[in-house]
Amino acid sequence: MNTELRQVTHIDNVRLGEDEKSVVIIDQTQLPNRTVYRTLRTAEEMFDAIRLLQVRGAPAIGICAAYSIYALARQWETGDYDAFAERFHAAKEYLNASRPTAVNLSWALGRMEGAVTAHAKSPVEEILNLLGRECRAIHEEDIAMCRAISEHGLGLIRDGDGILTHCNAGPLATSRYGTALGPLFLGRERGMNFRVFSDETRPLLQGARLTSYELQRAGIDVTLICDNMASIVMKNGWVQACFVGCDRVAANGDAANKIGTSGVAILAKHYGIPFYVLGPTSTVDLSCPDGDHIPIELRSPDEIREMWYAEPMALPEVKCYNPAFDVTDHTLIAGIVTEKGICRPPYTKSLAALFRDRE
Ligand code: MRU
Repeated sequence: MNTELRQVTHIDNVRLGEDEKSVVIIDQTQLPNRTVYRTLRTAEEMFDAIRLLQVRGAPAIGICAAYSIYALARQWETGDYDAFAERFHAAKEYLNASRPTAVNLSWALGRMEGAVTAHAKSPVEEILNLLGRECRAIHEEDIAMCRAISEHGLGLIRDGDGILTHCNAGPLATSRYGTALGPLFLGRERGMNFRVFSDETRPLLQGARLTSYELQRAGIDVTLICDNMASIVMKNGWVQACFVGCDRVAANGDAANKIGTSGVAILAKHYGIPFYVLGPTSTVDLSCPDGDHIPIELRSPDEIREMWYAEPMALPEVKCYNPAFDVTDHTLIAGIVTEKGICRPPYTKSLAALFRDRE
């Protein structure tokens, strides 16, 4: 693999600190201009890192939360199981409230808490060791899932294809290859060439700041477009497939992802372009029947009114609506690419089968 590609796909975006009482992240809000590593020690720092999108992307949030709760637990000096479990539960609830939409957050924290409750009779020190293993397993499994998703996704496209993506579902948002961008990195590794169109992704510009940065650095042909240019790019015949990530996939296949994703899917349908959602099974929430049940995060109006601008671009009193995600209706999705393979409609059946296989 060439060095540039490796530098992008093998970054340590989230890791446990050497003392195992802290978590180290790349602060994604500083990219692409500065690569800043931040060490998170307190629960508040961990909560804020997720809330402020210093660490972002559904799988990365889950991994960060798992490492965070382990690092916090290592700091507590108690040998009493009940006191430990109570504190663990409070920390879990606190971290879980940092962002509502990506189910990976509660999934990872739930797995960590499961290790505590399943070993109620064990000494706290032993539970801590189990927790250390569990958070590392969550991370390692995500690496494997991203790699498998990349393989499955690569089978959907051909050398020379144009791919449109929205937001960032690459290595920074996940582990190693990423999900929606994974097939592109893997294909590049194998000598294939793609033309990628990266929506800038208003209002937080994950496409401009992160996706085009990752692809450009990896030597992949990427063109940055404003979100409202997706239609003309499709009309020009430059897009053969859309690849996007996801934050929560409901049992019927409705998929929440960064705001603007559903608009891309509607356009893709109009132009007859297949629209694929790529994500690990940790993002599938079978307890959620459909998109109407997915909680959608609302963020500060300042992200629309003034963030990024030298001076505000709207009156301070102007009313704003700033949902961070939208839900793409399952009827617009040609396939949901998971590590276990590609789910096709009807999703109620194909998604449920993913979990039956696991049993
Ligand atoms: O608000 P963000 O930047 O965390 O939103 C992230 C996305 O919408 C990603 O596409 C999603 O989490 C998938 S990351 C593999």
